[in-house]
Amino acid sequence: MSPRACDSHEERDNDSLKPETWFNTAQRTDTTTALKKKLYIKTYGCQMNMYDSARMADVLAPLGYAPSDSPEGADMIILNTCHIREKAAEKVYSELGRLREVQAGKAETGGRTLIAVAGCVAQAEGEEMLRRAPQVDLVVGPQTYHRLPELVARAERAGPGRGILDTDFPEEDKFDRLPEESRPQGPAAFLSIQEGCDKFCTFCVVPYTRGAEYSRPAADVLAEARRLVAQGTREITLLGQNVNAYHGEVPDGRGDWGLGRLTRELAEIDGLARIRYTTSHPRDVDDELIAAHRDVDALMPFLHLPVQSGSDRILEAMNRRHTADTYRRIVDRLREAQPNLAMASDFIVGFPGESDADFGETLRLVADIGFAQAYSFKYSPRPGTPASTVETQVPEEVKKERLAGLQQLLGEQQLAFNHRTVGRRLPVLLDRHGKKPGQLIGRSPYMQSVHVDAPARLLGRIVDVDITEALPNSLHGRVATAICESGADSAMDNQHVERAAI
Ligand code: SAH
Ligand code: SF4
Ligand code: F3S
Repeated sequence: MSPRACDSHEERDNDSLKPETWFNTAQRTDTTTALKKKLYIKTYGCQMNMYDSARMADVLAPLGYAPSDSPEGADMIILNTCHIREKAAEKVYSELGRLREVQAGKAETGGRTLIAVAGCVAQAEGEEMLRRAPQVDLVVGPQTYHRLPELVARAERAGPGRGILDTDFPEEDKFDRLPEESRPQGPAAFLSIQEGCDKFCTFCVVPYTRGAEYSRPAADVLAEARRLVAQGTREITLLGQNVNAYHGEVPDGRGDWGLGRLTRELAEIDGLARIRYTTSHPRDVDDELIAAHRDVDALMPFLHLPVQSGSDRILEAMNRRHTADTYRRIVDRLREAQPNLAMASDFIVGFPGESDADFGETLRLVADIGFAQAYSFKYSPRPGTPASTVETQVPEEVKKERLAGLQQLLGEQQLAFNHRTVGRRLPVLLDRHGKKPGQLIGRSPYMQSVHVDAPARLLGRIVDVDITEALPNSLHGRVATAICESGADSAMDNQHVERAAI
């Protein structure tokens, strides 16, 4: 998954679940009038957690819970947690400390705030969490949240201080038990197609917290995509911890589709203008996926393909199962298929045993590829992972210095990439309000945030934007699409992306 939320925004609040950010507010009113209980979900970590939070809200809706954007007075609070880097668990415990006041306030009015901890810290901590934080009513893992109605009923019966734990990796398929999505996600939506990981990179907790790799049947994915589009979604980001390992059962049950084939089928859905996927592993980039980047216009020319390091020695110690040169070759082939492809990646500096020369190889790889976006982290020893016990840990000072050097180079590349879009006309999906009145924000095909002055009625539309200014993390532009009063635009939903390399 994109580590954006884990990195630049260490904690991500549940913005995507706030009622005012839902796209189709009319439908929200219809579905919420009968709901009485207040549900506050705070989401940390990756997009998969954001998707899961939305699904937990769906699961709890029939019980009368309606999402709220503040914890005060909530009948239930869910912390949907991330365990990817250091101090993740400590942060959750301090948040729980802060929530005691909310619980006390509710108790004064004769009510009760149920507290649930979900996500990857819940899975990793399990019983320990109930011991250390007795105010927690429920600990639920990423694979069991479909059981929330039953768990909540048990927690209500059990009363305070008798926490309930469900961190199984169950036999039943969570997705089969989840209700249909009850709330529109908006113009740009997430759709989880694959979960778990069997790669076991030696630094990573995900295989332990999310479990074994699993792909949802293609028919279910297509059905969910159609429902999203019917609710106003124009862009779908397919999610998976290892999304291009996708091998979902085909609709007639005979065999599997890989991600390349799935994107071709999704592109046939009327009204679905854009498809993205995240996050991929270099080992699972196959010919079919490369061909999809050549042939499927809806597949956006942006790929987040984590490499972690440019040193073969370190890549081997990480158990990444690819070399720096195989990564280079994969990128070459992808760019041959789609010359316009913008690359993004993840990097870890200071992995145990990393020498100056190894780090130099990482800088060399960055210089060779040229990234439009990247996320970089200091190696963080995670309990239970093989690399955490290796003796050749790199001193903090060295990690810091290397991170600064790498981020300097990546920042320069990102800004240069952004500058190359100035003067171009790009199709932008306007998907949210800006901070300033009259401003909307959208995404370019290359995942850049684009700020424009535009009327609110353009929210959810793909418009042509003339890019006028590039900043390190965003672009500014002017809407070029002629907008007719009737709303029928002359060049509406222009999805044309120039195929020339930028
Ligand atoms: N399969 C997903 C992994 C999600 S973790 C993916 O490839 O994106 C997201 C990123 O967090 C990883 O790519 C890695 O760069 C970083 N990361 C994971 N474990 C880490 C650790 N122990 N220390 C520092 N960074 C880590
Ligand atoms: Fe973690 Fe590696 Fe799996 Fe990504 S591929 S989730 S980094 S073990
Ligand atoms: Fe974090 Fe779990 Fe996602 S550890 S990055 S929330 S898969």
